[in-house]
Amino acid sequence: MDKILTLGIETSCDETAAAVLRGGREILSNVISTQIPLHQKFGGVVPEIASRKHIVNIMPVIDEAISRAGVDLRDINQIAVTFGPGLAGALLVGLSAAKSLAFALKIPLIAVNHLEGHIFANFLSAPELEPPFLSLVVSGGHTALIRMTDYNSFELLGQSRDDAAGEAFDKIARVMGLPYPGGPEIDKLAKLGDANAINFPHPKVDGYDFSFSGLKSAVLNFLNTAQMKSEAINLADVAASFQKTVVDTLAEKTLAAAEEFKLNKIVLAGGVAANSSLEKTLRAACNLRGLEFYYPTKILCTDNAAMIACRGYYQKTFADSTLNAVPNLGL
Ligand code: KG4
Ligand code: ZN
Repeated sequence: MDKILTLGIETSCDETAAAVLRGGREILSNVISTQIPLHQKFGGVVPEIASRKHIVNIMPVIDEAISRAGVDLRDINQIAVTFGPGLAGALLVGLSAAKSLAFALKIPLIAVNHLEGHIFANFLSAPELEPPFLSLVVSGGHTALIRMTDYNSFELLGQSRDDAAGEAFDKIARVMGLPYPGGPEIDKLAKLGDANAINFPHPKVDGYDFSFSGLKSAVLNFLNTAQMKSEAINLADVAASFQKTVVDTLAEKTLAAAEEFKLNKIVLAGGVAANSSLEKTLRAACNLRGLEFYYPTKILCTDNAAMIACRGYYQKTFADSTLNAVPNLGL
């Protein structure tokens, strides 16, 4: 059995995370220290606060990951760290820790793309999963359809031209007075509403690209108009109708791409993959068409370091001490 131990480190946004993986798919530990309560009072992530908090948390989180894995730091064979995309100052904290440890332990360093990491979370939830497949990556910063033909080949079929799906969830939630992050709050509220109550415009974009800014404006206009006319608003209906429009758009493009590229596995990834309606809709559509459907367990959907370690394990290319953060890194 493959006994390679990979230490994963993730600090791209508001979670300080470290994990130990044995081989490619066995999680020995997965520690996540979230800063969400800290940023909540500002209604979103404050980059400076995020970096400062990562500095305080990073070594204790790494220590915790090593100790929960029941290994010694000297047993670690390689370190995988997120180098982008993300907040520059936040990324640099994880990178500095990873570079220093790799240098001190004389072990290889692997530079991991955070978006690829989200896709790889699926290999941890479903050990039997193998490429090729179609992946829908939906996070706070990205919405993309990616064809993965093997572990190191990613073809971007389309992406959002403006807001990411998660960003739209967070902005609408904020206007509705819900706490950050808004995605899980809208998900919860939508369960109490009627998804067909309000007919929000379906975004119309060619090919496999997405756009959510028009929909976001339509929801904001709806809320403002109702407020100006002092009309009662059923927020649960707004949440459910907005969520349905996003989910239908995502599902429609994903299924069309699967058909065109003749891919029979659909793999959901990123924080918005935790959305119950998106999961249910895609699962039902896949069942109907005889497609296999994969999505990570909840804890692996949002930011974590196990997915970074997993991506690093399969990457097989190494970085050196000149590695820098790339905040706008694409696929
Ligand atoms: O992947 P992630 O943890 O961080 C980024 O890389 O961006 O994604 C965070 C995003 C946030 O926008 C959050 O609101 C959204 O994922 N999210 C959800 C749900 N849980 C998290 N969106 C909709 N429904 C959810 N249940
Ligand atoms: Zn993420």
